Amino acid sequence: MKRIVILISGRGSNMEGIVKTCAAEGWRAQVAAVISNRPEAAGLRFAAEQGIPTAVVDHKAFGKGDAARAAFDAELARVVDGFAPDLVVLAGFMRILTAGFIGRYEGRMLNIHPSLLPAFPGLHTHQRAIETGCRAAGATVHFVTAELDQGPIVAQAVVPVLDGDDEAALSARVLQLEHRMYPRTVRWFVEGQLQIVGSRVRQLAGEAQLFVA
Ligand code: GAR
Repeated sequence: MKRIVILISGRGSNMEGIVKTCAAEGWRAQVAAVISNRPEAAGLRFAAEQGIPTAVVDHKAFGKGDAARAAFDAELARVVDGFAPDLVVLAGFMRILTAGFIGRYEGRMLNIHPSLLPAFPGLHTHQRAIETGCRAAGATVHFVTAELDQGPIVAQAVVPVLDGDDEAALSARVLQLEHRMYPRTVRWFVEGQLQIVGSRVRQLAGEAQLFVA
């Protein structure tokens, strides 16, 4: 049984998709914990209702600055390690992590980012895609490395940007595909079907690493 720890900051719909798909498809894995940096994160409630252990490491309790960030990450790592994860999944976890934290989970931490990386790292990705005149937008699942929103790409999901799209409409269209892509890629990891080769990721069973609407 592989142990998955999921980190969230808010709604938690991607986490919910992973929890439900894991159960529905009978993965040889369990979601061992859902951890949030925000006590009010809505996703914590869903996790608790499923009987999944939850924890909060509130970043606000640590203050600001580099020392505070390092202290927060040290506490987060302590809590995460308490659940002995084989895989750490960032699912709408809105904190920049220190290199020390990331190094601890190298090769076993995934993130989903709402853009077609390497375009639009950071925030407000859909708004920026619309303003730039992009005709396609999407989301990327990647292994986490020390550079923000970089790291070997596991899969991408692409949707058209339609005339008249606003941020809400585009993000809703992308989110539908995120909910297909993220559970699938987590399953690949659990089944040992992902191989990092240099900066690329191979899906060993040959499944498509591109998701289209
Ligand atoms: C998702 O769209 C995810 O791609 C994005 O936050 C949303 C979380 O939704 N992640 C980031 O922006 C990470 N930088 P959810 O809480 O409903 O899964």
